[in-house]
Amino acid sequence: MSHHIAVIGGDGTGPEVVREGLKVLNAAAGKFNIKMDFHHYDFGAERYLKTGKIIDESEIGELKKFNAIYLGAVGHPEVKPGILEQGLLLRLRFELDQYINLRPVKLYPGVDTPLKDKKPEDIDFVVIRENTGGIYTGHGGATRVGTQDEIATQLMVYDRRTVDRCLRYAFELKKKRNRLNPKYAAKPITLIHKRNVLTYCGDLWYRAFEEMGEKDYPELKRDYNHIDAANMWFVKNPEWFDVCVTENLFGDIITDLGAMIQGGLGVASGGNINPDKGGVSMFEPMGGSAPKYTGQNVINPMAAIGAAMMMIDSLGETKAAAAIEKAMEATMLKMKSQSAGKMGMSTTEVGDMVAGLI
Ligand code: IPM
Ligand code: MN
Repeated sequence: MSHHIAVIGGDGTGPEVVREGLKVLNAAAGKFNIKMDFHHYDFGAERYLKTGKIIDESEIGELKKFNAIYLGAVGHPEVKPGILEQGLLLRLRFELDQYINLRPVKLYPGVDTPLKDKKPEDIDFVVIRENTGGIYTGHGGATRVGTQDEIATQLMVYDRRTVDRCLRYAFELKKKRNRLNPKYAAKPITLIHKRNVLTYCGDLWYRAFEEMGEKDYPELKRDYNHIDAANMWFVKNPEWFDVCVTENLFGDIITDLGAMIQGGLGVASGGNINPDKGGVSMFEPMGGSAPKYTGQNVINPMAAIGAAMMMIDSLGETKAAAAIEKAMEATMLKMKSQSAGKMGMSTTEVGDMVAGLI
């Protein structure tokens, strides 16, 4: 059986980092005798600027037939902010019902963190960001626009089913991690919200979390943090966290903080996951298209390689994923920095080294 993978290089440095990720996947495929085929799509700014088209219904239908999607980055200085983000990235998340955004926050040995005195053993957790609900649903509106009396609303929308399916994934992942490592098992699963102020949505999430935890996962320790406090603890005591679960916008914000403490956008990867049977997930580096570094062979492909590793893991190729991670670790130890232009290596050299070590 072959894994059919759709590849969207996208804009800016997207195609450069995706190229290195594919190099690494091909190396792993050779070593572990895995069959993969890649189908490249040209969605992104260039096509939009040329044709006015972002993606159409039939192309979304095509994407639903793949086993996974590998995405570089979207965003271009000549395209008004929001057009590609909403028209491509968010549209795919919604249409493919990728209701989990899984963002590991893991500090690898040799990688610099801005947190003084924190070591790899202190920063090793995951954030599960609900990925299809909340403020991202686009409910709201504006009236009297442009006048002194303008009113704008943007609603945080959640229903019990959307909350429950996200929590289910979080509890199951926590169970799996606890089996993997006693260090994880000693820590709770943490719900992050703002239920002292968001008394409707926060209450829904909190009750659903407590009910599911008590009923189906009584053996798992549960904890709750307000989002503002969680921000503080991510910086002060990241070692307290293992699996964190939160709603969409809070998850968006706190995972940028997570990316920074694990060494920056050069190393932070994520998966937009549809865990259901037949669901198609999409994996991407968390960094954007970085226009100012485009075409210079200086951008760090490590986050894209990490996304490829998560993708192959989700396809059941756990041995290959573990080998990629080991090769990533060894390469990061050799790099001067994880920041673009300061790596002591070029983009292609980083990819070559990871691929070579496999
Ligand atoms: C992210 C990004 C996106 C989001 C943007 C580009 C729409 O910030 O993946 O975290 O808000 O989800
Ligand atoms: Mn974000």
